[in-house]
Amino acid sequence: MERIRNFSIIAHVDHGKSTLADRLLEFTGAVSRRELKEQMLDTLEIERERGITIKLQAVKMFYRAKDGNTYTLHLIDTPGHVDFSYEVSRALAACEGAVLLVDATQGIEAQTVANFWKAVEQDLVILPVINKIDLPSAEPDRVKRQIQDVLGLPSEDVLLVSAKEGIGIEEVLEAIVNRIPPPKGDTQKPLKALIFDSYYDQYRGAVAFVRIFDGEIKPGMRIRLFSTGKEFEVVEVGAQTPKMTKLEKLTTGDVGYIAASIKDLRDIKIGDTITDAKNPVESPVPGFRPVKPMVYAGIYPSEGYTYEQLRDALEKYAINDAAIQYEPETSPALGLGFRVGFLGLLHMEIVQERLEREYGVSIITTAPSVVYRVRLKSGEIKEIRNPSDLPENWGIVEAIEEPFVLLTIITPKDFVGNIINLCQEKRGVQQKFLYLDPNTVMLEYHMPLSEIIMDFHDKIKGLSKGYASYDYEFLGFKEEDLVRLNVFINNQPVDALSFIVHREKAYRRARQLVEKLKEVIPRQLFEVKVQAGIGSKVIASERIPPLRANVTAKCYGGDITRKKKLLEKQKEGKKRLKQFGKVELPQEAFLAVLKVE
Ligand code: GTP
Repeated sequence: MERIRNFSIIAHVDHGKSTLADRLLEFTGAVSRRELKEQMLDTLEIERERGITIKLQAVKMFYRAKDGNTYTLHLIDTPGHVDFSYEVSRALAACEGAVLLVDATQGIEAQTVANFWKAVEQDLVILPVINKIDLPSAEPDRVKRQIQDVLGLPSEDVLLVSAKEGIGIEEVLEAIVNRIPPPKGDTQKPLKALIFDSYYDQYRGAVAFVRIFDGEIKPGMRIRLFSTGKEFEVVEVGAQTPKMTKLEKLTTGDVGYIAASIKDLRDIKIGDTITDAKNPVESPVPGFRPVKPMVYAGIYPSEGYTYEQLRDALEKYAINDAAIQYEPETSPALGLGFRVGFLGLLHMEIVQERLEREYGVSIITTAPSVVYRVRLKSGEIKEIRNPSDLPENWGIVEAIEEPFVLLTIITPKDFVGNIINLCQEKRGVQQKFLYLDPNTVMLEYHMPLSEIIMDFHDKIKGLSKGYASYDYEFLGFKEEDLVRLNVFINNQPVDALSFIVHREKAYRRARQLVEKLKEVIPRQLFEVKVQAGIGSKVIASERIPPLRANVTAKCYGGDITRKKKLLEKQKEGKKRLKQFGKVELPQEAFLAVLKVE
């Protein structure tokens, strides 16, 4: 155990995490990710085509240090997006140290700070490393000062590297060996292992990546999962070197994988503890919490696809993704479909894209909505995952609460004014305003999550020419004055278009929404009336005039390329639309609510 080091690399996106990981692999003689990809390409082309991703969750390396000893290093990967911040915290819980990587040309960004605090929470030793020092625009001294002033890490501890050019790699390895402590624990105690990652393997079934805190685990052993009490027999244990390599056992301090003929990935919950069924531990590794989707959307088959096709696709998809939750729902407007819960917007995009690309169904997605909590006068609390589930009868409602986040933004000071305006517009309440250095400002806000999923990303990037970065974490639910906006097409309510909004913004959003719908709903042979209202009281209305014969005639004029384009566009439109009565609603109509302010 004295010669084991368990660590992660944490960084803001694009600061060079993968490149540094590859260099560490190369330096220690393990196969790099690039080489591995090439090898996999040769041998497993079919599997690759089927969508097996080469993810190195926890790679084992051997490093012969300057002190003459050989150390076992486990590099544990962390996901790089705010949707997966719980997974990051569990991966860090499996480590004793973290390499905090900062781009020498960018300096500290929002994810740098967020990840730093997660590492501090786990009591990790943090090694600050500045990357990309080969670039002419690198400012290592400025970034060193930021690291000292903002994170409180002494600048003499900061290492300078270029992952791309291979500069300073050995120094990083030496620091890992010398500054990060070895794991503690007791091999004689009952097995206590933390699950920090998982995936579904065609041959092995659901595979758990674990860190062993006490005891050991071998094939043939009967294990128990703490959160559910379910038991399985271990078939194989091993480590990624980086190929999946079988081992005789995993022992205290080790990091590796366990396969136990587990068929359902949902049995392997990230953050859960694995113990010996015959001799279980009393208390689990702290910090477990079940996945809780914060964002829900309806997913329905497009015209030409059936509910059964969508159900089969979702079932197959869910084998590989334990984080999505889904249940059937019926929408008067869209028919049979599913209400699907996601960790966040990126997760939702991944699911949408993979359902269409890998599982061959074309889908209509309704606008994502956060989870609301309705407190009824009876004392009951209802969780609202679909705006149309909000009680019609306001008399029984005591209050509606919505999720709030702590939002951290880092931006060059020139854009601060713009960003403060944006945050105010989005009902943010400022908590902090701090200069990281004379040119960089950090802001903190409390803000409703619903405002972030609307269009915050595009707005903040637009207002800061792409320079501002942000990250957020869930704070809790807070009471707000919220109402549901209902949408009517030719006087019929379209439940799938309704959404929940702050009362003060209802008028503006209603107006913008009907205007947007007018733009995206294709003209029909008859007039279409689009209205939005609170309850049945209409507050905004637009009319989509009928198509006139000569408009179509014009389109089919002589220009052959134009005609082709038009036909192609129509074909594309066909794929993702839904017939509502006589009106065709394209996918854009369902997302129009995200495009209003
Ligand atoms: P994500 O996987 O998206 O989180 O990014 P990452 O942090 O893993 O960054 P990645 O290693 O993919 O590097 C991002 C970009 O920076 C790539 O184009 C790299 O080639 C480049 N890069 C990484 N390290 C260096 C470096 O030391 N110098 C220079 N000039 N470029 C680098």
